[in-house]
Amino acid sequence: MLHSEQVALGNRLLKYIETKTTALGNAIYAQPISEYVCEHIAEIEQQVFFRNQLLCLGLSARLPRPGSFVTDSLSGIPILLTRDAKNKVHGFLNVCRHRGAQIARDCGTVKSFVCPYHAWRYDLLGKLISRPQDTAFGEMPRENHGLTPLTVVERDGMLWVCPSPGQSTDINKKLGGISNELASYNLASFHHFDSCTMRRRMNWKLIVDTFLESYHFGVLHKDTIWPIFYDNISTFDAWGSNFRLVSARRTIDGLKSINESEWNVLEHIVGIYVLFPNTVLVWQLDHVELWHIYPYTDDPNLSIVRLDLYTPQPAVAEKMKKHWKKNLDLVVKVVEEEDFPVGESIQMGFHSRAQNHITFGTNEPALTHFHRSITHAIQTAQKPT
Ligand code: FES
Ligand SMILES: [Fe+2]
Repeated sequence: MLHSEQVALGNRLLKYIETKTTALGNAIYAQPISEYVCEHIAEIEQQVFFRNQLLCLGLSARLPRPGSFVTDSLSGIPILLTRDAKNKVHGFLNVCRHRGAQIARDCGTVKSFVCPYHAWRYDLLGKLISRPQDTAFGEMPRENHGLTPLTVVERDGMLWVCPSPGQSTDINKKLGGISNELASYNLASFHHFDSCTMRRRMNWKLIVDTFLESYHFGVLHKDTIWPIFYDNISTFDAWGSNFRLVSARRTIDGLKSINESEWNVLEHIVGIYVLFPNTVLVWQLDHVELWHIYPYTDDPNLSIVRLDLYTPQPAVAEKMKKHWKKNLDLVVKVVEEEDFPVGESIQMGFHSRAQNHITFGTNEPALTHFHRSITHAIQTAQKPT
């Protein structure tokens, strides 16, 4: 983040603390519950958000060297990314052209992939290079039966892929004005530390909602987050559908005794970037969390989430491994034991018919912006052409 932007943010947060307020929207917002429970809406969301758009699969560090590969099926589509000998990233459906088995699992480094079912072999460019009993498939030329390619983009240290073959989408349109700030973090230099996958009985948007206000810190997280962060103190800025919230660590008060030209505001905040609709990048002091949030199956009541933790240096020394493991364990404990149980209780209550909408206050502008953007995207997709 540019220093001038850091100073502006620091001053906004200090002002909010002094005046006991936060970034405010224009009006309260009534969010229909149907968008969390309706199977028809869930079906439209699958197409609009999880089939025809670029999905973020992680930072470039998921493919750290030539020969690296990584798989991902959170969207329900099995995807394989590879990095070739020239460092170029490729994307494929992780589906064998013989009878459809997944040719790769997890991640690693290889020279070629051997399908676990009948040992058809593919290279890093997706080419089918050999198959046992080749003559039995004589009418089916190997050249035409490589892995199905997907559109893939590596941009400013992030990996994006469109899960629908033959579909090309525009990363510039997707990121818009938020891309300059993402680029300023030099994400290409980060290293993958570890990942953790969670499944929950709550709509995927309720998981995103978890990140979108600091109003709950002093209540739900009074023993975990609140001693470290101010509650109900956040900035909010949007670039189209993408947006940023910044909340203040209590250490920010120390800036008042330092000249602005020497401020390092990044040490005193948590920066939450929502890359619309389902990727949340969290800038934390000395590491980055990347949350990948998806509906799980067609059921609007289920979601699956993967949290990746990336570090500015490789975690080689035991002391650093312990440090980042502690950070990962803490954030997983807080969401698993505090945020997500409340989210699951909300999802259950949605079916009770207690009300047909929930309410976002003027102190929760990011929630309003996120859900307005969701509604707008769905309505646009449904408009007759
Ligand atoms: S399914 Fe892959 S080799 Fe048969
Ligand atoms: Fe929370």
